[in-house]
Amino acid sequence: MSHFNRTLVTAALPYANGPKHIGHIAGAYLPADIYVRFLRNIGKEVIFVCGSDEHGTAIPIQAAKEGTTSQAIIDRYHALLKLNFEQLGIQFDIYHRTSAAIHHETAQEIFKEMFDKGLFTEDVSEQYFDEQAQTFLADRYIKGTCPSCGYDNAYGDQCEKCGKTLSPKELINPVSTLSGNSPILKETKHWYLPLQNYEPWLKEWLIEGHKNDWRSTVYGQSKSWIDGGLTPRAMTRDLDWGVKVPLPNAEGKVLYVWFDAPIGYISATKALFKELSENKIEYAYPEHTVLKNVQADDWKKWWQDEDTRLIHFIGKDNIVFHCIIFPAMLKGTNQYILPDNVPANEFLNLEGDKMSTSRQWSVEMEDFVKDFEGKEDVLRYVLTAIAPETKDSDFSWKDFQTRNNSELVAILGNFINRITVLTHKFYEGGKVPFAKSISNNESELIAEISRCQNSIQQHIENFKFRDALSELMNIARAGNKYLAENEPWKTIKTDQDRTDVVMYHGLQLAAHLAWWMEPFMPFTAKKLYQILNFQKYKYQIQEFEQLPSGHSIGEPVHLFSNIDDELIQKQIDKLQKNKQERLDSTIQAILNDDISNDLKPTITFDDFSKIDLRVGTILEAEKVEKADKLLKFKVDIGFEQRTIVSGIALHFSPESLIGQQVCVLANLAPRKIKGIESNGMLLLAENEDGSLKLMQPAEPAKPGSKIA
Ligand code: MF3
Ligand code: ZN
Repeated sequence: MSHFNRTLVTAALPYANGPKHIGHIAGAYLPADIYVRFLRNIGKEVIFVCGSDEHGTAIPIQAAKEGTTSQAIIDRYHALLKLNFEQLGIQFDIYHRTSAAIHHETAQEIFKEMFDKGLFTEDVSEQYFDEQAQTFLADRYIKGTCPSCGYDNAYGDQCEKCGKTLSPKELINPVSTLSGNSPILKETKHWYLPLQNYEPWLKEWLIEGHKNDWRSTVYGQSKSWIDGGLTPRAMTRDLDWGVKVPLPNAEGKVLYVWFDAPIGYISATKALFKELSENKIEYAYPEHTVLKNVQADDWKKWWQDEDTRLIHFIGKDNIVFHCIIFPAMLKGTNQYILPDNVPANEFLNLEGDKMSTSRQWSVEMEDFVKDFEGKEDVLRYVLTAIAPETKDSDFSWKDFQTRNNSELVAILGNFINRITVLTHKFYEGGKVPFAKSISNNESELIAEISRCQNSIQQHIENFKFRDALSELMNIARAGNKYLAENEPWKTIKTDQDRTDVVMYHGLQLAAHLAWWMEPFMPFTAKKLYQILNFQKYKYQIQEFEQLPSGHSIGEPVHLFSNIDDELIQKQIDKLQKNKQERLDSTIQAILNDDISNDLKPTITFDDFSKIDLRVGTILEAEKVEKADKLLKFKVDIGFEQRTIVSGIALHFSPESLIGQQVCVLANLAPRKIKGIESNGMLLLAENEDGSLKLMQPAEPAKPGSKIA
């Protein structure tokens, strides 16, 4: 990283449409914060910008849900998010917002520049329009039947039942959610970014240029997008919430949220320098001189100088926007630097299930800071220890408790407590002793610490925060081992000199820990500095001696405390209760739901009589290897036994089906499924929620009986 003079770090601007959960923290904000704190500590020029994403359809939809205005929604959640980030020690240099005037101006300028350069194409297309509401409909405002699975509450952009990505025109029987009426198709003009024009450049810059330094998911997702063929993408929308399109005859049109939001990084930087130059805000890090005496115009060097490094921290659902679309915009204007790296994280699950605020299966920041006041660093520690850096990972409350009790308390806290308590016991006024002659044990200790430190630095520079954290704990482990092996509580009775050497080294190690833990656990680092009565935040730790002999340390205080079962059980119960309530309401919804009337076309009796249905008895049922969904059956249909393969393994256990009777389609042509020949089909009823029920005679019937 040495040929860069400064580093600009961004974290994805969260939508200000609701609270954010710990999955978001683990995904982008925490790793970004660790990275930035570390760079600050080694004296690098770095700034860290973020803010609320206040446009897009997510906001008006949330407003409608809560029966209020979009403005009220963004004001409320902007304030909440800003506060929650602060509470968790995520220390942005600015937390801005895209509703700010300076952002609207910046986004419009960039749009205008691209327009003037001829970088957009114009296209008129037909879009759904609600005649009653007199407005074009965003994809999320249209519901209809999914063409793929038949679910009749699919959205215009996606079916939430089968997960298929849709476009509104694919929906069967589309309905406007604003009025409940069927929308009409109406022509509308939009401006498109012809991404295909950027393909040769993307191949060189991204596919060739970042083959080795980007994470494999980030690189892989980007590459497969490019390989799949790039097409023009609309950069404007018909919507009355957002940044107005700065062109004549564009009333009712706003910039696409993914056009304006990433520009939010630029406008936040502008705002930071403007406010600093007007002395409206004081820079939070007085020792770190990078933002002293700045001019409003200085933002330019952070976005336009080739020796600035731009790093985007995001979750994996944002990859194409940060790796392809935004870079194409920046490249097109030809005035801005491009991202050097985009260390996107995968997803964090919760207790084995996808985290989701709307499904109430999540740990919200606001709840955590309330329920675990003073334990913000425990969360930071655990989320880093399980960071989903290379694959999805799982947060569980039990694991949270274990990591607190047997790692933070038992290893790190224990070392600090032992060394500080002993210091006060052995030396009046808690004074750091003089170390006379050191032995091999000390050389080994110093070598191990320096190995860990180099390794932490390297891991952080390579965005491997998990590995970095585990090396941090190795420093504490080395400390515990050193004390256990050298037993100063014993030598104090026989050998004062030796005791002094050991205590001196243990205390230096504690001071090193404070410095190296700061990026990960800033609150605890602060506490430890207080305990050691010492402060050395902002410089590279080079010398082994941090606490000079004769220096008095402060009073020992526990860095961490055990989390008991009760507190953890409360969290688990809360989740289970939410799950049960959700289940109950789904069942209610099924009971209340009108069954859809999407009858297939009429057939004649002759058509029907081609079908041969029989009663069968299931004799055997077993899972099919390497096929999660399939079960293989032996079914007795009176005159013979059939092998039938059916995709119902997720709904039934094989044992529960043995001996059951079932309706069998007996004259279905044989089909090979996973190499097994299936002769017939089992009939099942499917509920609206996708659950299955076996079709069987009300009373036992003879296998082979005809059904007609
Ligand atoms: N609001 C988006 C999301 O939560 C992220 C926007 S990132 C930005 O998924 F780059 F556009 F700002
Ligand atoms: Zn579907």
